Amino acid sequence: MCGIVGYLGNRDCTSVLMDGLEKLEYRGYDSAGIAVFEGREIKTVKTRGKLSAMREKLEREGKPSGHCGIGHTRWATHGEPSDINSHPHSNGRVTIVHNGIIENYAELKEFLTEQGYTFLSQTDSEVVACLLDYYYAERNPLHAITETLKELRGSYALGMIFKDFPDRVYAARRGSPLIVGMGSGEGFIASDIPAFLKYTKEYVLLDDNEIVRLDNDGTRFFDVHGKPVTKDVQTAEWDVEQAQKCGFPHYMLKEIHEQPDVVQKTLDSLVKDGVPDLTGIGLTDDMLRGFQRVYITACGTAMYAGIVAKYAIEKLARVPVAVEIASEFRYMDPIVGEGDLVIVVSQSGETADTKAALELAKSRGAKTLAVVNVKYSAIARLADICINTLAGLEIAVASTKAYSVQIVSLYLLAFRFAYARGIISENELKRLTAQLEKTPETIRSVIEHSDECQFAASQLINTETLFFIGRGFDYALSLEGSLKLKEISYIHSEAYAAGELKHGTISLIEQNIPVITIATQRHVLEKTISNMEEVKARGAYIIALCRKGTTFADGTVDLKLELDFGELDDMLVPLPTVCALQLIAYYSSVLRGNDPDKPRNLAKSVTTE
Ligand code: M6R
Repeated sequence: MCGIVGYLGNRDCTSVLMDGLEKLEYRGYDSAGIAVFEGREIKTVKTRGKLSAMREKLEREGKPSGHCGIGHTRWATHGEPSDINSHPHSNGRVTIVHNGIIENYAELKEFLTEQGYTFLSQTDSEVVACLLDYYYAERNPLHAITETLKELRGSYALGMIFKDFPDRVYAARRGSPLIVGMGSGEGFIASDIPAFLKYTKEYVLLDDNEIVRLDNDGTRFFDVHGKPVTKDVQTAEWDVEQAQKCGFPHYMLKEIHEQPDVVQKTLDSLVKDGVPDLTGIGLTDDMLRGFQRVYITACGTAMYAGIVAKYAIEKLARVPVAVEIASEFRYMDPIVGEGDLVIVVSQSGETADTKAALELAKSRGAKTLAVVNVKYSAIARLADICINTLAGLEIAVASTKAYSVQIVSLYLLAFRFAYARGIISENELKRLTAQLEKTPETIRSVIEHSDECQFAASQLINTETLFFIGRGFDYALSLEGSLKLKEISYIHSEAYAAGELKHGTISLIEQNIPVITIATQRHVLEKTISNMEEVKARGAYIIALCRKGTTFADGTVDLKLELDFGELDDMLVPLPTVCALQLIAYYSSVLRGNDPDKPRNLAKSVTTE
């Protein structure tokens, strides 16, 4: 979604803003712009398209030269991607950038029109610039901001500059992320830390309904009434390297390769003396014994991690687990309350629907557990208990390493759940944990055979549509494999429980339609093979992902990818197997000439409904 940056300091503002916007590209966008004070004048340059188009425009029109300004990458919501709809928006005295949605923009627009304001764009954001100007009668920016915020409904992170104050940047937030970078003699605002990581690791998290002012005397924070507030300065654990490709052609490939390490780190943080120890995060065996029901709610890949967890928790702990898409959960009036554990899973920790689902669960008295990768995110801060997964910075839009650490954390939870409820013995708890400790090695071994995945991807080069099938954990993985492939290769794909295909979808199988079959679960292998035969008989081209040594009858399989899991329990093979699926998706994208890091229409962090 949109990215915001702002800067005040001695550096060249245009360079800092463009650099920051580049670091926020991963969030997804379709236009960009900056506004920089040149002396007392604000110079705005904005354009539809990528940052390369912005750079060309800056070359053509001249780069604004100054030390104070704001910048934006826009992911269109209200109004098409166009030069006019791009941010910053200005009405003369106030210039703003906005991330989020102003839900009451239509009524505000009507009011402001009556007051004589005219609007250039189709955006909801432009009303904020006008409203700020309306309340700027006393030429007091803080007053204008506090009055404006009272009127806004919806979510926002705002960066603001006022024409009369060429050495100040203001920002405010409610519902959308905004971080303040605390440099020495300089200040930054940004939607995410990488935008200023190159200059400072010190940051302050702006909370909802707070305002920040960067000026030459330092950085000050205020509440929504304009009263000063004191904030803690924190230090980012990431370093600049994490925000770079480090020799890989794409972030996605780099992140796939990081999986053995980040899985190990996540295991190290949650395993003590050979068993999962969740007391550190505030989850005791007593609490686990008390839950009658579990909900897992999330979006996209995080939700698919939840489906793997459902299979694991139900199998081991014998507690009913319902996995619900967060955008459904929040409006379906779920039967949830005291005695329930609601797990939300999110890489970014900012996904609007997941956050709303969490708030709903909390309001109904359920215990909430967040499995989140960004520890300073809204979801991490809202949940009662939080498992901080240690994937590090995930930049590619297609989630890879975050999924792996989510399922590692959730497996550990499943093991502990089962032990706490007396369903497995301490020995079994240790055995399962030791098995999970082997996954970094098996993941590494799958990644080392990436050429086979590349070959499989080359077989899909002319494919318009395909299917993924599997049973049990393999079905859960099929969902993720299919999502990964379609989001970056743009091949239409659907995932089905292998036994379900013949209840309708098999009518779509015709000559050479690829069916990627995940066949790692030995207790249902024969059943899966029968399903493969059914589609083969109708002309499908079958790519099978299976355990090393798995045999199929002659002619059943067109391409076999044998994965070496060693003696890993079937329940845990989703971890190495998903890497093969990620690689197939990655190479399919690259072979089709796409940029896997920035798939069309998608945003990394989805902060609107
Ligand atoms: O940040 P989150 O984990 O909450 O994001 C959820 C989904 O938007 C995300 O997983 C999305 O599906 C990815 N593009 C998948 O690769």
